[in-house]
Formats: sequence, structure tokens, C-alpha cells
Amino acid sequence: MCNSCSIDLQKAEGFAESMVQMINQGALALMVSIGHQTGLFDALAEMKTGSSECLAKTSGLQERYVREWLYAMAAGKIVEAIPDSDLFHLPEEHAAHLCRKSGGDNIALYAQYIPVLASVEAQVISCFWQGGGVPYSSYERFHEVMAEDSSLTIVDPILDKILPIEPGLIAQLEKGIQVLDIGCGRGKAMIKLAEHFPNSKFWGVDLCLDPLTKAKEEVAQRGLTNVQFELADLTTYRPEGKFDLITAFDAIHDQARPDLVLSTVFECLTDQGIFLMQDIFGSSEVRNNLDHPFGPLLYTLSTMHCMTVSLAQGGMGLGTLWGVEKAREMIKEAGFSWIQEHKLEHDPMNCYFIIRK
Ligand SMILES: C[S@@+](CC[C@H](N)C(=O)[O-])C[C@H]1O[C@@H](n2cnc3c(N)ncnc32)[C@H](O)[C@@H]1O
Repeated sequence: MCNSCSIDLQKAEGFAESMVQMINQGALALMVSIGHQTGLFDALAEMKTGSSECLAKTSGLQERYVREWLYAMAAGKIVEAIPDSDLFHLPEEHAAHLCRKSGGDNIALYAQYIPVLASVEAQVISCFWQGGGVPYSSYERFHEVMAEDSSLTIVDPILDKILPIEPGLIAQLEKGIQVLDIGCGRGKAMIKLAEHFPNSKFWGVDLCLDPLTKAKEEVAQRGLTNVQFELADLTTYRPEGKFDLITAFDAIHDQARPDLVLSTVFECLTDQGIFLMQDIFGSSEVRNNLDHPFGPLLYTLSTMHCMTVSLAQGGMGLGTLWGVEKAREMIKEAGFSWIQEHKLEHDPMNCYFIIRK
């Protein structure tokens, strides 16, 4: 303790150290994102040990940039600089979380959210002064990164891990049902299901044209006739007919009006229908989230994306961590009486809700 003032100097020093570490790690996240996007991690994992010249040649990249990136990776203890040589080594234990071939274990792809969020920093700061929000159209690569993310958390495990949560659902899809995905983004989940369950019909709805154009291109490429995508604002959307299964993958909390969307889901679901909602796991109370393993990331995602895109539409701006308490409350207010919550091992950030009338 300092005698002349009341601050604990050891505590202050410890905090300063953690701030420096935080800035180092933040900078490193940008370089990890670059390593993922350029394929440098994939190439280095193949060669295991190599020089910047060799890695640049294999990757078709500029050596000077690759060298500087390797220096950052070495200083960040992601790769090992081999003593007395110009070689760098990527340990297999690290490669297991940095490469595309690692599938769901690849954490590097999530580092891309940092530059995506940084692309709207000035606009978010202006919202701190003036209110309002940042629209989806302002984000660089949001839908692309989101589709890459949900390919691992939703699309790849949908048949083996997600649909089996509800016994009998796969049999219904095989027989033939009507399915709607709200806030579908690039539509990869519906495209996979349409391919796998030809007797069922699938629809996807989203606010943004860019991801839907990609979804339609993929449908045409695969020659699918049982899946369609529609541009619509879910706040006012009223589809014709009813659906046996409605899905929302990470797409309720950032809606302009989650309350209205949930009411629409209730109206459009058949009496025996199922609403499968994947949304962020956490509490509505910040005090309960202080030790949440993704807490700082989720509140940052919220400020820089989920809350602000909702506010940009004149919405409620619930935020990423609207929490399971608020989710339950709003689902019940929409008219539903039956909610079951599931945590799946492959997706620690989310909760899977099975909801019925
Ligand atoms: C977090 S992303 C999830 C996308 C997709 N479900 C996935 O898992 O890849 C949320 C999606 O909801 C869409 N969305 C947001 N507000 C919407 C609205 N008012 N009407 C329709 N879609 C909306 C966004 O365009 C975005 O594609």
C-alpha cells in the first residue's frame, strides 16, 4: 500500500501488466486472423518446420510479409523460432486449433471477428455520442465469417449432434415436412438439410441481400429444388402457411424486435410443430456472467454488433447476452408453454432450445 495515497501499488502494477498482455493478445488476434485467411497456418502445419522463404513460396505470398507475420507468431508463442536458424516450427498441439483440417477445433477462424468488429469502430463510437446503431451493410465480411463459423457449429454437426436432440425429428424430415429458417444468413443449414431430406421442403428468410445471393448461387450449383430463400424483414414478415419445424440459429437476440419475431414463429408453427432455437448461453444478469469463459468477447460482440445492428433498425437492442432468463420469459410471452434447454459439447457458447406450443 502507498502511504501518501490509498492505492495498492502491487494491485496497480498487476493490472498494468494484464493491460499490456491484453493489448499484445488483441494484436495477436489480428495476426491469427490473417494467418487463417491467407492459409499460412494450413501451409505451415503441412511443412511443420520451415523458413519464411519456403512458407511464402508454398503459400504464393510475399516473403517480406510472411517473415514479419512469423516474427509476430514467434513473439506470441504460437510458433517456435528454432535457435541458430531461420526456421520456424508449428507444434502439432497448436496446429490442432489453427487449421482448416481441424474442423470444429479450429479456433483461428473466430479471430476474424476482431477485424470484422474493428471495421465499424468509428461508427460505433459515433453511436456512443449520438445513439442509434450501425447497419449490417457497414460490416466488412460479417456474413462471410458468420457462415464459416456456423458451418462448424451448425452445419457440420446438424445431422449427428443437433437434430437428435429431439427424438423422432429425423424420421419426420425423412417422411417430409415444411421447414423455415429465420435469419438464415448464407443458408448453409437449410441447403445441407434440403440435400439430405429430399421429401421435405425448406425456406430461409433474411434481411440482407448479400448472403441470400450466395445462398441462391449454392442452391443452383447443387441443383436443389426443395429449398428457397426470401429477402424479408422478420419484424413484419408473415409467411403463407404453417411450418412443422422453424429454426433460428444465433438469430433471435440481435433482431430488431425479438418479441414480434417470436410471436410470428408461434403463429406460423403447426400445433405439433417444433421451434429449434440456438442462441447464446449466459445469464441476463452481468453479475452472473463475470466468470463466463466468453464474457469479454460476448459483451464486445454485443456492443460492436448484436446490440447495434438491432438499434440501427430502431429495435430493442437486447444485446448478445440477453440471457436464458430473458429468452425463457420472451418465449413464454409469445405464447409457447413448453421449453427444453440443451447444452451440446461441440458448441460451448450456445444453448439449444426445443420449444413447443
Ligand atoms: C448472427 S447472424 C446468423 C446467421 C445464420 N443463422 C447463421 O447461423 O449463419 C443473424 C442473421 O439474422 C439476420 N437478421 C437480422 N435482423 C433481421 C431482420 N429484421 N429480419 C430478417 N433477418 C434479420 C441477419 O442478416 C443475419 O444473417
